[in-house]
Amino acid sequence: MSGEPFDKRDGWIWMDGALVPWQDAKLHVLSHGLHYASCVFEGERAYGGTIFKSSEHSERLRLSAEMLDFTIPYSIAEIDAAKRLTLEKNNLVDAYVRPVAWRGSEMMGVSAQHNKIHLAIGVWEWPSYFDPEQRQKGLRLDLAEFRRPDPATIPCKAKASGLYMICTISKHKAERRGYADAMMLDYRGLVAECTGANIFFVKDGVIHTPKPDCFLDGITRRTVIDLAKRHGYEVVERHIKPEELAGFSECFITGTAAEVTPVGEIAEWKFTPSGITHQLMDAYTAETRPKQAAA
Ligand SMILES: Cc1ncc(COP(=O)(O)O)c(C=O)c1O
Repeated sequence: MSGEPFDKRDGWIWMDGALVPWQDAKLHVLSHGLHYASCVFEGERAYGGTIFKSSEHSERLRLSAEMLDFTIPYSIAEIDAAKRLTLEKNNLVDAYVRPVAWRGSEMMGVSAQHNKIHLAIGVWEWPSYFDPEQRQKGLRLDLAEFRRPDPATIPCKAKASGLYMICTISKHKAERRGYADAMMLDYRGLVAECTGANIFFVKDGVIHTPKPDCFLDGITRRTVIDLAKRHGYEVVERHIKPEELAGFSECFITGTAAEVTPVGEIAEWKFTPSGITHQLMDAYTAETRPKQAAA
């Protein structure tokens, strides 16, 4: 991927309560968040100037921090307002929004009871998470080597940077092998999710998706389940074994960045993106775009 590196761009970043010039938004190398992954973040999208489900994302950010035993010193309303301000200052209406909170530098051992909690918000244009041509045909996914861990070993509901370590390793390996992304199994060997998105399947007009008992229950996932039900579809949240993939006709993934993206194959299993996938792609587009005021 090319493009201007993220630390060399122009614009404004909201950091600890103030807007600072983009290239001045720095942290020290001796920051607890960097060394010990005491860091949580969000990924959000603004459509036509409105951040989709902004408060749900702000709430998840605060809850993720609590799961890592720290409290973000801003309320949900204050975080929502800061995100709006950052969008406005950068003159963006359609954009990706990235709040990130981390422990600072006061203590640099495992214990960091008194470290300052920082919050920053960056926004940038990010039209499509996957190559538009691949997205059109249906993505090719690899099967990841690493598995989503047992919830007894990690705070699996937190959107915490440390939990992305295996996502980056898995995505890199998939890309080197010519795939767009990788699907991960969980610690039991059941179907879990992709490296930055949840996954759905279709069989005989019924939608099936893994139960989010050890991975992120995405805001997009919940939105799409709701939309599918409103369109009259049955949605079954259950444990899915990888060998069942042979029996599904459609597959798609969901996430703030990925939105609703069709999948054409996962390792040896093939799918044909069609009716239900296309209907939910359109429904999600309609749901996220700001509603026009009635004439
Ligand atoms: C690992 C993982 N799973 C699922 C999701 C989907 O979450 P959401 O729909 O809230 O963006 C994401 C994206 O944030 C993710 O990174």
